[in-house]
Amino acid sequence: MPVAVVTGAAQGLGYATAALLAQRQHALILVDLQPADAAAERLRAAGASVQALQGDVVDEAFAVDLAARVARDHGAADVLVNNAGVSLIVPAEDTTLAQWQRVMSVNLQGPFLLCKHLGQQMLARRRGAIVNVASIAGLAGISHRSAYNASKHGLIGLTRTLAAEWGGRGVRVNAVCPGWIKTEMDDADRGSGRYADSDIINRVPMARFARAEDVAAAIAFLADEAQSGFVNGVTLPVDGGWSSDASWESLRLRTRA
Ligand SMILES: NC(=O)c1ccc[n+]([C@@H]2O[C@H](COP(=O)([O-])OP(=O)(O)OC[C@H]3O[C@@H](n4cnc5c(N)ncnc54)[C@H](O)[C@@H]3O)[C@@H](O)[C@H]2O)c1
Repeated sequence: MPVAVVTGAAQGLGYATAALLAQRQHALILVDLQPADAAAERLRAAGASVQALQGDVVDEAFAVDLAARVARDHGAADVLVNNAGVSLIVPAEDTTLAQWQRVMSVNLQGPFLLCKHLGQQMLARRRGAIVNVASIAGLAGISHRSAYNASKHGLIGLTRTLAAEWGGRGVRVNAVCPGWIKTEMDDADRGSGRYADSDIINRVPMARFARAEDVAAAIAFLADEAQSGFVNGVTLPVDGGWSSDASWESLRLRTRA
């Protein structure tokens, strides 16, 4: 049974991804800063083989420990999904160094550390798929998100570089770039009053938020050797057309008539 490590899997997109990979017969290792026991229990109840580990992806000692467990129990992971991430909506000129560093650490340093330590094992076996969860905020600027956007642009750079460096040794590295998804992250961001559902819906050609399941399906595609075995280094938007659409808003809304 292939083994998948999914970070940030206690809720939101990480949980949806873990659930889909479990349905597709993967054994799951759920990693999260908060306890993922309830998530693991739900997946086990559906018949999955699941282990939940609490830890901070920023912490290299945690990544080393995780890699040692994976090596002991499975030899190497087949799939790594770097999904854990944090959001920050603050004007650039007001962003503190501590805020900048935390966002960069979780969203970029964390994926680097897990790619490094789990990637070493995949490289030794000359097989593996890594999917990094970036964002449309990694493809273009969005105001008041300097740290978040820089971290996601950096994650895309890391993805492309590892794809170039590791593709010849059997390890594929790709990224998904979701548009806005209805998760706890969006609840918190929208709850801060800085945007409304209609702002997002009006911006998206397909006129809705992403569902976590839409994005999980794209991640599972990129994780699956049989479906995407020659896909390496891509940044796949899962955004209902947002990043392809440079229409002004009234034109976009007219297309829906
Ligand atoms: N929600 C959106 O609209 C949206 C859009 C584009 C991209 N994304 C990206 O998708 C990913 C998942 O987002 P989500 O909406 O499910 O968010 P979420 O806040 O609902 O879930 C994120 C999970 O990551 C965990 N986490 C945070 N910091 C961690 C750390 N240091 N170590 C381990 N776990 C940590 C949290 O505890 C949480 O369970 C993130 O990388 C996010 O940037 C989200």
